Amino acid sequence: MKQSPRVLFVCLGNICRSPLAEAAFRAEAEAAGLAVHTDSAGTAAYHVGNPPDPRAIREAARNGIDIAHYRGRQVTARDFHEFTHVFALDADNLANLRRVRPVDGSAELALLMDMVPGRRGEAVADPYYGDEAGFAVTWDDVSMAARAMVASLKD
Ligand code: 4NP
Repeated sequence: MKQSPRVLFVCLGNICRSPLAEAAFRAEAEAAGLAVHTDSAGTAAYHVGNPPDPRAIREAARNGIDIAHYRGRQVTARDFHEFTHVFALDADNLANLRRVRPVDGSAELALLMDMVPGRRGEAVADPYYGDEAGFAVTWDDVSMAARAMVASLKD
């Protein structure tokens, strides 16, 4: 991965998985002293302008991170020019991102869990319709990916 990456995390609603991925990556990069620019977005517009799901806010808080001020937005074609890396949280969102990506978009597009050895091709499961415990699973997945990404940046 290039120096000073600009990393966008994308799920469906931008209120559960991708805000947690953004928070985990920001925290891991900060702890490692790496300067990064990061954001998150959704492929859908259902939650544009909304804060993260309360269960995601509580999960981040349990891990010492405040995400209550994050606001949902929808991914745009322009994001493929403004970010160096766009990571999809699952295969459906990856397929939709391939449709949004402009032909001259410079960002690398990949599945987030491809960053984690042994987890290639896996989804970060959608916790939205489940119970609060699902958000701890989401946190484990996105923080594992964040650690792998920061390790590869330090190489
Ligand atoms: P996310 O979860 O994609 O991880 O933010 C979801 C949030 C909202 C909905 C589905 C998934 N929804 O259908 O509103």
